Amino acid sequence: MSEGIYIHGTEPSEQERLAGLNRITNAAFIQFLDVADGSHVLEVGSGLGLLAVDVANAAAGVHVVGVEISAAQIAAAPSHPRVTFVQGDAHSLDFPDARFDLVYARYLLEHVADPERVLREMRRCAKPGGRVAVCENDVSLLRFDPPCPAFDHAWDLFTRFQATLGGDGLIGRRLFRLFRSAGFADVALSVQPEVHWHGSPGYVAWVHNIIGNLGSARNGMLGAGVISEADLNAGVADLDRLKTDTRGSAVFVWNRAMATR
Ligand SMILES: C[S@@+](CC[C@H](N)C(=O)[O-])C[C@H]1O[C@@H](n2cnc3c(N)ncnc32)[C@H](O)[C@@H]1O
Repeated sequence: MSEGIYIHGTEPSEQERLAGLNRITNAAFIQFLDVADGSHVLEVGSGLGLLAVDVANAAAGVHVVGVEISAAQIAAAPSHPRVTFVQGDAHSLDFPDARFDLVYARYLLEHVADPERVLREMRRCAKPGGRVAVCENDVSLLRFDPPCPAFDHAWDLFTRFQATLGGDGLIGRRLFRLFRSAGFADVALSVQPEVHWHGSPGYVAWVHNIIGNLGSARNGMLGAGVISEADLNAGVADLDRLKTDTRGSAVFVWNRAMATR
């Protein structure tokens, strides 16, 4: 199984970033999923398994299976009596048709070679009348104030680098089209906001998460020569400054889609 497209890797510092991102975003995403008691749920690209465990705890008797390509991520996942993790590729899910009440993926489609195929697989695994949900990135929607031009430059090159790996950090804007191509008739779009400002509870954690995105891709970007070390350091320094700037604020939205099979 190839993990080559995944821009972030699985270094301990990256796993810590992803755990921090889960702390920021899980509650709102679970509200979006609105999982029913007794549901059988599949998470595709389950990473560290933190979201899967929160989903299992969101209602009574919920069972969650997490499919994850990386053995290192599965090894770091917590144990829970109603959550199991299996190693597998989202492009060919090893489950029978119509097995789950709810199938979801979060922060996955931007990292796969063929997102439409992944959605078709997710649809296949959902029961008729079951739901398929995703939450994805469009990194162009990220805004900081006061302006951080060195960061903006590094962020643009980060997005381009991800594209050279075969990923798409802008995929959030394409969700409706992708769902329709994958065979869904009934698709609803929504967003999950990230609005943070100096002194608000999530501000430092959010800025830290964005710095961590650049950190996880640092070796790859420098190795590929897509950015100079000086420019990358200047981008990180912009956001480091913003963390303590009493005027600082950040706005972003995650793109979500929910469909019925
Ligand atoms: C950004 S993490 C998100 C993890 C989790 N969904 C969450 O929200 O915290 C994306 C995960 O997808 C996994 N992944 C990437 N490509 C995959 C594929 N083709 N099949 C299954 N998992 C994949 C990565 O290894 C990584 O753990």
